[in-house]
Parts: sequence; C-alpha cells; structure tokens
Amino acid sequence: MTGAAGWHHLTAGGVSLLVEAVAGASPRVLWWGAELGSTDLAAVALAAGAAGPHGGVVASSAALLFPNYAEGDASRPALAGHRGGVDFSPLPKCVTVDSSESALAITSADESAALSVRTDVEISESGLLRLRHAVTNTGDSDYVLDGVAAALPIPGEAAEVLDFTGRWSRERSPQRRPMTIGAVVRDSRRGRTGHDATTLMCAGEPGFGFRHGQVWAVHVAWSGNHSTYAERTPSGLGRLGGGELLLSGEVILAAGAEYVSPWLFAVYSGAGLDGVSASFHRWLRARTNHPKSPRPIVLNTWEAVYFQHDLEKLCRLADAAAEVGVERFVLDDGWFGSRRDDTSGLGDWYVSAQVWPEGLSPLIDYVRGLGMQFGLWVEPEMINPDSELARAHPDWIMSTGGRLPAEVRHQQVLDIGNPAAYAYIFERLDALLTEYPISFVKWDHNRDLVDAGQSGAEPHNRAGVHRQTLAIYRLLDELRAKHPGVEVESCSSGGARIDLEILQRTDRVWTSDCNDALERQAIQRWTGLLLPPELMGAHVGPTESHTTGRVHSLSFRAVAATFGHSGMEWDIASITAQERARLRTWVSFVKDHRDLLHSGDVVRADYPDPAGWVHGVVATDRSCALFAYVQMASTAFERPLPVQLPGLDPDRCYLVRPVYPAGPTRRRQPDRTGLDGGRRDRALRPRSRHRWPGSADPAP
Ligand code: GLA
Repeated sequence: MTGAAGWHHLTAGGVSLLVEAVAGASPRVLWWGAELGSTDLAAVALAAGAAGPHGGVVASSAALLFPNYAEGDASRPALAGHRGGVDFSPLPKCVTVDSSESALAITSADESAALSVRTDVEISESGLLRLRHAVTNTGDSDYVLDGVAAALPIPGEAAEVLDFTGRWSRERSPQRRPMTIGAVVRDSRRGRTGHDATTLMCAGEPGFGFRHGQVWAVHVAWSGNHSTYAERTPSGLGRLGGGELLLSGEVILAAGAEYVSPWLFAVYSGAGLDGVSASFHRWLRARTNHPKSPRPIVLNTWEAVYFQHDLEKLCRLADAAAEVGVERFVLDDGWFGSRRDDTSGLGDWYVSAQVWPEGLSPLIDYVRGLGMQFGLWVEPEMINPDSELARAHPDWIMSTGGRLPAEVRHQQVLDIGNPAAYAYIFERLDALLTEYPISFVKWDHNRDLVDAGQSGAEPHNRAGVHRQTLAIYRLLDELRAKHPGVEVESCSSGGARIDLEILQRTDRVWTSDCNDALERQAIQRWTGLLLPPELMGAHVGPTESHTTGRVHSLSFRAVAATFGHSGMEWDIASITAQERARLRTWVSFVKDHRDLLHSGDVVRADYPDPAGWVHGVVATDRSCALFAYVQMASTAFERPLPVQLPGLDPDRCYLVRPVYPAGPTRRRQPDRTGLDGGRRDRALRPRSRHRWPGSADPAP
C-alpha cells in the first residue's frame, strides 16, 4: 500500500515493512516487524523518527534503507568504493518509486558521485522479505567497488544473537551471545558458501526459543565470499545485513556498468525460530522450480565402495538397493580418468577405460533395468595437477603472484570464469548427460578458494571469486536449460555450499558428510531453519560411523534419515538379511509418509530437558503429524519429562501412536505408557475423525 508522505507499506503473513521514500531524500525504513494492521502509519513514522542525539548529526533516528556516512549514520555503510580515491561518500537520494502490493523498486541517484542505485524489495505471502541494491556507475571513469550490503533495522528488543559456525562433518553449529553495542560480523572468505558460513543471522528477544520470542533473521543468498552481520550503535539503532565480500580490486565498474548485490532474505517471526523456518520453507515451496515429484529414495555408493569401482560389486549393490526399495542409484567419485584415489584425475571428465572398459552403460542399464534412476558424481570446478587437463592447460588454474595456491586434497581450482575453461567443462558435462540416461548429478566442490586469481586474458590475475561465482551459476543454468529432466545436488565436502542462490539451480543439498545419526540430529535441526526436509539429503550410514566411529542402532539411524530427502550410503549388499528387511520396512515407511514429511510444517519443541529433542512435521491442515523424540544424551531424570507436541490444533484430540520405522527397538523396561500394543486405543481414544498416519510396523 502506498500512502501520503511517501509511505510504502508491504504487508503479508503477519509481517509489515514500512518504507518512506520521498523524491529528493534518502529512503528510510520506519518499521520491520509484526503486522501493523490498522495502526496509524503517521504515528509509526513519528515514533521511528524521534529527535537525534545531542552532538549527533542525524536529524531523524529512522533507519536509512541505504545506510551512508553522508547523513551521519555511523554504522556499516551500504556501499564502499571510490573513483580514483574520491566519491567515497555517496549520498543517493530518491528519484523514482515503483510500488505494488508486494514489491518496491526505488531508484536513487547521487549526481556528484555519478552513481545510481536501484533498490528492490519484495514480500512473499509468508511475510518473507528480500532486498538488494543494484549500483550503476553513471560517470565516465572506472568506479572501484569494495562492497555493497543490504540491511534492515531491528528494534532494541532484539538483544540476543544466534548465528552458526561449523567445519567439515559438523556444519551449522549454533552460537548465542548477547547483542551489545558493536557488531557481530561473520565473514566467509572460502570462495564457496563455507562449512562455517552462518546460514542465518538471528537476533531476538533474550531467550527466544523455537516456539516463543520475537526473532528477526537474515540470510545472504550467495555462494562465494560473503559477509553477514548484526550491529547496534550507541544511538540504539540496530541492523541485520549482509552482502558479497569483494576482494580488493575484484569489481571495478566501467562507465555504465552495473553491480547487483546478492539478495538479502529477511524474516520476522513473532513466535520463535519455528516461525522463521516456516517463512523460508513456504517461500521455497512456492517456487516454480521447487522439486515437485515424490523425493526418490537414494542409494549413494560413496561410503559403500569409495573408489573401488567394480561392475560386479556395484551390480550386487544395485540388487540390494532394488530389494529394499531404492529408487535412485548414485555412482560417486572414481569413474573417470585416472581417478583411482583422490590424488589425480579431476578435470578429465571421460569415463575411465581402465575401470569401465565398456563405458558406464553396463551399470546404468543394469540399474535402470531394476527400475531405478541413475545418478553420477562430478566436481566440475576442480582440477588435480596430476591430470591430463592440468598438463594441457596449466594456465586454467586459479592463482596469483606467480605461485600456485596451497593444495587441498591434492587439488586446485579450475577457473571456469575463463571462457575457454568454461567451454571445455560445459562440453564435457553436456556430452555425458547426452550420452547416458542420467537423472541426477551430485555436483561437488571440495576445497576453499585461496589466492584465487583469474586466468586467461585481461584482467589476468585479478581476484576471481566473484567471476567464478557468477560462472558457476551460468554453467548450472545453461546445463539445466539443455537437460531439464536432470536433478542436481549441491554438495561441497558435505554441506559447504548451502545457500538460497545455489538452490535456485539445484534440487537438494548434501547436508553433511557426517552420517552419524547423533551428529545429524543437530546438523539437520539447524540446516532445517533454512531448508525444508525435502531439500536436505539424509542417508542411513554404516553401523559404525565412518566419520566419528560411533555405533548406532539401525532404528536410530533410520529415524534421523527420515526427516530429509531420505537415502542410504552403506554397503547394503554385505549386511545381514535381517538388516535388509528392516531397511525395506523403513523405506516403505518413508514412501508412505513422504507426502506429509515434504509438505508439512516443521516444528521443534522447547523441551525442558536438554538431553531430549522433540521435532516433527505437522500437516498443513493439522490433521496428522509425525514426531521424533530423540535422546541426545542420557537424561538427569529417572523418567522422561512429559512432551508437549508442538504445532497441533489445540481444539482437536489426536490419537498418538508410536511407530518404529526400521522395525522394533530394544527395550530395557516394559512399556507402561499405555501407548503401545493393543492397549493404545484404550489409552488415547480419538475424539475426532483425524487419524495419525499408519505405522509401518506393529509395536513390539
Ligand atoms: C566429498 C563429498 C562426499 C564424496 C566425496 C568424493 O567429500 O562430500 O560425499 O562425494 O567428496 O570424493
């Protein structure tokens, strides 16, 4: 809604954003938070623009939409850059505004600095906002851009910050701290999104939980270097923001050139983190490119055979996979060039004649003959120095300073921003997807970008992460346009490339290389704040975890892998017949429930015992739900504390029925809850017609 005084009110899903954009002035954000409803906007504007501080420059405390030094905003500016050392302090003033119910495009200009800025703001049905700035150099000389960030204000109530860190096999570990004066800045300089990238930066009322407390959260949708921050200045002004982290000299805007910042996604929830995830999930699910078909059960060969590719062995694995109900068989690393281990072959995307003398067809035909789709692993942006490609084109390796970057996993980065390298990779991937009936590509990226200078023609040696990031988007877009039936997984040593821009061109992520079900509870819980279950690969791994050495029951592993895009990564040709039978039971359970799991609302309880986690998925009409109670550690209590199942309709009575998706579990004590066995109907009688979905197994 657009009102008098240049107020633009975007509102949906219980959220309001009120922007003041008046020609000749800097646009300001008067409100971001709970829906304003019939609140008098003039009163909101008055409250937002209280008098400036003694000795301060700012006449109004309302937050600038494009924070700048020029008006005395001492917080992080939206733009950093210069033109040969000057024009460092741009002051873009509003020129035009295009607005609709759900979007706002504001053009601002600074004629003196010769820069114009178009700010796009959108609101989705769930109240999710996204905004970005497009900066154009309207002068006739180069403008060196050091960074452009988008940000929104947060109120004083947002006094506690939650962000995430991580490492290989332990992605998205939460960290909480009070939000005091100063900035919490999370930079990711990995050249990829990063294991440690803070998928979300949340600020909320102290103690905010999954189901309570106001929370504001942002996500920077970018797969290269980026920065996300929460800041409060002594003026009391707080902001959440972020953008691409540009390396020195990486973006120099020629006359007339434009730079578009990544989308900053921004979510407000009046009731905890479940509201944050609900908003992201609804937005993702409403996309036309969101996967629509039931998510096929996957078998990935990595932890089953690693590099030991052998047709006979893989066919036996495929037999076992088909027997338990797998629908997609994915051949991982080791099928190409000299790639018998991780020391060589990356870049030589030709099927190895040594291991696959008749090509991949014998395996693919066998897999498809069993009724499964075939998927293949690739790592297109990487190159082993020991490869035909590196010997032919050593100049395609990203580097600078006349030296090669330190090797990681014996590999370097191929500069796909270089048109010749891009053409080679596109041709190879296109040829493979044309020759073979491949339904799925696991697209990997196994190292950070370090010293990543551009190759090829001018500007040779310039910092190249920005160009590389755009090139990977283009490569995926062009391949997908040519092979629209092929699904793609974003993998990066597990979950180091998980962001909403890569997800615009991929169909799921490999959440982590850690298949230990206990660790996975945490990794999926926190990744799930951004992504719904159908986008998170979750596999049953070997009995003894290959990454942690822990041993978990099949039951525990299967429950963890239920709440994602389910699959397995285990040599199931070598397991016992009973284990296979239980896997089959679990697979059919997942197939029976994936409609619910992949469309319902993800919920987590604020359970009072930190040793027990309760989470679930509730049907959007709240007719049924599936929950997991997970014992993360031994509890201090002799008996479990009562659980309040979150997200249900308080006006309905539900029948609660225990389910054992991978067969019966071992018990030390008899069940006395009354929920099990034949007694359950007496214990909890449904008073409505709404039923719990059927269990796969009778209770023991
Ligand atoms: C990465 C991936 C793994 C696997 C290996 C293959 O580590 O995360 O899942 O594909 O590469 O080399």
